Amino acid sequence: TLCCVTSTAPVNIAMIKYWGKKDTDLIIPLNGSLSATLDQGQLCAKTSVAISRSFKNDRLWLNGTEQSIDNPRIQSVLNEMRRRIRKRKFDESDLSESFTQGMSKWHLHIVSVNNFPTAAGLASSAAGYACLVHALSKLFNIEGEVSSIARVGSGSACRSMYGGWVEWLPGEDTGSSIAVQVAPEDHWPEIRVLILVVNDQKKPVGSTDGMQATVRTSDLMQYRAKKVVPKRINMIKKAIFDKDFETFAEVTMKESNQLHAVCMDTHPPIFYMNDTSKQIIRFVHDFNNEENTIRAAYTFDAGPNACIFLLEENVKKFISSFSRKFPPSSYENYIRGIPVNFEQP
Ligand code: DP6
Repeated sequence: TLCCVTSTAPVNIAMIKYWGKKDTDLIIPLNGSLSATLDQGQLCAKTSVAISRSFKNDRLWLNGTEQSIDNPRIQSVLNEMRRRIRKRKFDESDLSESFTQGMSKWHLHIVSVNNFPTAAGLASSAAGYACLVHALSKLFNIEGEVSSIARVGSGSACRSMYGGWVEWLPGEDTGSSIAVQVAPEDHWPEIRVLILVVNDQKKPVGSTDGMQATVRTSDLMQYRAKKVVPKRINMIKKAIFDKDFETFAEVTMKESNQLHAVCMDTHPPIFYMNDTSKQIIRFVHDFNNEENTIRAAYTFDAGPNACIFLLEENVKKFISSFSRKFPPSSYENYIRGIPVNFEQP
């Protein structure tokens, strides 16, 4: 017997940033965050999970290379999945039962690929874990709230479980730290995202370690989590509801800059942006000043690549102006105009 399910899940880009955990095992964040889920056609992860009695052991492949399944994050997801299966009152099928009982006879094979280069430093783990949870939920018929299962794999993954505009409510425990959709995919169809892949080496410090160093050593981080983020979440939600691009853009850029400010306030400091990233920041502000209206907003995560939010009507102008100033070797214009999208399968 073999049961197999394949799913895809999209990448999300945060405007209000998650950076810092109050519980590192359960991945409960210090503050809420808010993101846009990108259209799956262009950037997504694809995962197949198969369970069979004839498999000798559990195995995992990422982009064609076998990896150890003993990875603690993968094990957290599998354990959380088992907990959900045990909780439900009905359908103790042979399959679910064998899985929850440690799968003495049945084994799981997980095969996951990205349709974009992992080296691009895009939130590949978010799409990957979201996808794994989608696929496992289908395989074991888990219904209801599943974003918290994706969360224990990688925090930002919980936001990739929904399309459109998504908020991660920080919560207090594993049941209340969940993602919710604040506006659907078709709410603001004119929004586009450009991803400018800045050529660079691997990031010096991964987000998991980087954010914990910030929590340990930055005073600014405490202030940010308590005093700044809650206000910005309300502001940006209102801007999204009202389709007020100027406010949306201003909050987005200030948020990105504050993320990198708390990284700089970390001891020793962490630098994710490089010179090209900083030139892109300057370029976006100049582009906005040219006509005295905010037409583009940048945001940077734990790496030098820029995500640019803009309205469809400004995409062409932005790209032509950008490519006049930046030699193609300093960046790779990876994707053009990805809409905010993804309807749950
Ligand atoms: C800068 O979700 O990768 O992209 O929970 O430790 O797996 P872990 O961290 P991760 O952190 C993402 C941080 C960020 C901001 C964001 O996406 O909100």
